[in-house]
Amino acid sequence: MMLDKYSREINYLRVSITDRCNLRCIYCRPKEGVALHGHEDILRYEEMIRVISLAVKMGLIKVRLTGGEPLVRRGFVDFVADLNKIEGLKDISLTTNGILLEQFAQGIFDAGIRRINVSLDSLNPDKYGQITRGGRLEDVLRGIARAEEIGFSPIKINTVAIKGFNDDEALDFARLAQEQPFQVRFIELMPVGKTTLDYGEDYMPGSQLIKIIRQRYALEPLKNKKNRSDGPAKIFKIKGGRGEIGFINPVSDHFCSTCNRMRLTSDGKLRACLLNEAEVDLKKALRENCSDAELEKLIWDAVLLKPRQHDIVCTENSLRKCSRNMSEIGG
Ligand code: GTP
Ligand code: 5AD
Ligand code: SF4
Repeated sequence: MMLDKYSREINYLRVSITDRCNLRCIYCRPKEGVALHGHEDILRYEEMIRVISLAVKMGLIKVRLTGGEPLVRRGFVDFVADLNKIEGLKDISLTTNGILLEQFAQGIFDAGIRRINVSLDSLNPDKYGQITRGGRLEDVLRGIARAEEIGFSPIKINTVAIKGFNDDEALDFARLAQEQPFQVRFIELMPVGKTTLDYGEDYMPGSQLIKIIRQRYALEPLKNKKNRSDGPAKIFKIKGGRGEIGFINPVSDHFCSTCNRMRLTSDGKLRACLLNEAEVDLKKALRENCSDAELEKLIWDAVLLKPRQHDIVCTENSLRKCSRNMSEIGG
């Protein structure tokens, strides 16, 4: 078992498969784009499997594959199938923007993924195109429909709340959760990396969204049960509806005291906390043919680097930025 300095059990790894993406969301990238890593700088699949296999022996049980967009990296489905062979790894999930989901849903299901989270920040085709800088809403909706047909469960929808941009759609998203068996989660915008947004102006606390939704829908709190793998969201059932609504409030109401996770960045650094710059370089060691004992020591170094909590301040205009981009860190 991996316990950090504050007695939290670390059993969950989020892996950024690639920093590349087929969209360029405004909260994720600046207009001019970001410098991408070259192929040599990115961890190879065999290297990820080695790290994860060892971490499973140390107590890891959950892996979430994220990015960038995992589905754009060649060989992804075979990688998932290999991951699925690791004994002791109980849960493999995927976070995707959904653009390629229709095409890949069956393949990743067969390879062993059951739980998927799909980013969807607007239900209006024009606005979706604006926020993603060119994405087509219908591609994502078809992907989600396919995933439901195939039997993925749960299917979670991630909506990053942006003041003045999609807060007026809060009730539309609530209706989606009422009509469909999805868990729709509103996520507070976090000050990570170079983006087009200004956190002071664009940040919208989850408490405001819930107020808007409660004017129209009756929400019944659901207890976060560990085995439901609900992560950091506070979840509500919509009375009489099929799905659920969740709020992930990392800025206004952080969940660091129950944090169980670390991140493997696309360039092979083990990052102790999303919102803290401390990292341990695994790629260097892997490429110098380190032993398993050396690798294990580095993984422990990262566990022990975990801060008690992040120190992002939530007052307007005083949000501190994290310098690396979300796509490299793995959300
Ligand atoms: P599970 O816990 O595996 O169900 O997934 P999740 O809901 O954490 O995963 P997802 O990739 O859908 O992330 C949803 C949002 O939560 C994203 O905006 C993440 O950046 C954010 N998030 C996830 N984990 C953490 C965390 O440990 N700290 C912070 N601050 N944000 C997180
Ligand atoms: N703040 C909050 N959530 C973000 N995501 C990406 N960038 C940010 C940010 N700055 C979300 C994506 C995806 C999830 C992994 O993280 O929308 O759904
Ligand atoms: Fe964990 Fe850091 Fe996220 Fe807090 S901000 S929940 S410590 S990863």
